[in-house]
Amino acid sequence: MTSAVCPGSFDPVTYGHLDVIERAASRFDQVLVACTSNLGKEPLFAVDERVDLVRAATAHLDNVRIETFDGLLVDFCRAHGVGLIVKGLRAVSDFEYELQMAQMNSTIGEVETLFMTTSPVYSFLSSSLVKEVARFGADVSGFVPPVVAAALRARLG
Ligand code: PNS
Repeated sequence: MTSAVCPGSFDPVTYGHLDVIERAASRFDQVLVACTSNLGKEPLFAVDERVDLVRAATAHLDNVRIETFDGLLVDFCRAHGVGLIVKGLRAVSDFEYELQMAQMNSTIGEVETLFMTTSPVYSFLSSSLVKEVARFGADVSGFVPPVVAAALRARLG
């Protein structure tokens, strides 16, 4: 059985994340979405809320499971017996840091990283930008699933 881990902070999950998760789910037998509980910055949504939103947004995907992790991603991968991470690349600016993380994860945990180029329609999207525009009342329905848009409205007013 082929498996992959799609990691992230998902604060909150966007259509850009979903694009990568859906494409991974169509290529692997099982996809584990790994939501970190340790962001190093104050998240808008608590980890349980972020997980609930990812779960609701991926409910149509039978082979996708959501888990949280705290600590190293390679330890999560090892604990679940998965040796492959799938990440989205939006632009060249993503590449430098993603390359460092991929090489670190390969070195300390022998975990491979496969990059998927983000669909061009979502290449400008980030959770931070979505939160920023939502905070000022912009319509975010083109950027996040309805359940996330509702959660943003409830949290930000
Ligand atoms: O959604 P993000 O912020 O791009 O996700 C980044 C994430 C959570 C995948 C990355 O920060 C991570 O793997 N964190 C876990 C801690 C870890 O393993 N750090 C070493 C990375 S080489």
